[in-house]
Amino acid sequence: YPLSILMKAQIREILIISTPHDLPHFENLLGDGKKLGCEFSYAAQEVPYGLAQAFVIGEEFIGDDKVALILGDNIFYGHELNVLIKEAMEDPKKATVFGYPVKDPQRYGVIEFNKQGEVLSIEEKPDNPISNKAVGGLYFYPNDVIEISKKVKRSQRGEFEITSINQVYLEKKNLQVKVLGRGFAWLDTGTHESLLEAGQFVHTLEKRQGLKVACLEEIAFNNKWISNKELLKQTEELSQTEYGQYLICLLYTSPSPRD
Ligand code: G1P
Repeated sequence: YPLSILMKAQIREILIISTPHDLPHFENLLGDGKKLGCEFSYAAQEVPYGLAQAFVIGEEFIGDDKVALILGDNIFYGHELNVLIKEAMEDPKKATVFGYPVKDPQRYGVIEFNKQGEVLSIEEKPDNPISNKAVGGLYFYPNDVIEISKKVKRSQRGEFEITSINQVYLEKKNLQVKVLGRGFAWLDTGTHESLLEAGQFVHTLEKRQGLKVACLEEIAFNNKWISNKELLKQTEELSQTEYGQYLICLLYTSPSPRD
């Protein structure tokens, strides 16, 4: 799912970071990304020491570019999310994170706003959250995030926190927070229950619309990263499945301008 968000944002060079145990499974499933008009690379995080390490692990991959990070267990869904993401990528000096109202903010990074809507603080998993706005697992950073992440100190729970990085940008007045309204869905799939709920949400949408959520081949095709011929080739092995039939249909329908 996270790949779909990045691909819709026209990002096609993607580094997938996972545990040494799980990484080969991702690599077997997704390969080098060429089939989707992308370039996938892989790197292991040997010990789960926190999200901020992603930029140290990915230093060479990032090179001189700016960078986006999306967490594998986060689902974002909403109309014109692309527009927000495009805005997030516009200012080369600013980091951008997304705030979202949740019932259990103590499980997340929590954002404090003043009456003018300016950000006053961000705190990781506070016992007494100051607001109901959690930081979602989708982040955009300028290139200096690499140097900032190298200086992050381990938190009480022993992790290099992404929140520490966001606090640095906040202090430098270079952090923008875009609040996703209640019309958006930000779902977490990190527990059995939340995974089931997210599955039900996606199933309901797909059943109603007859359109798939996060179909990578469809996104690549709509982005014109793969041709009709390449898409057709990919449907060959899948033609007996409902997924394959869906892909074949894409060849005969043009995408709606709002897709
Ligand atoms: C991490 C971040 C947290 C953020 C959350 C989003 O939490 O540390 O700030 O709100 O992702 O899913 P973790 O997954 O480490 O509990």
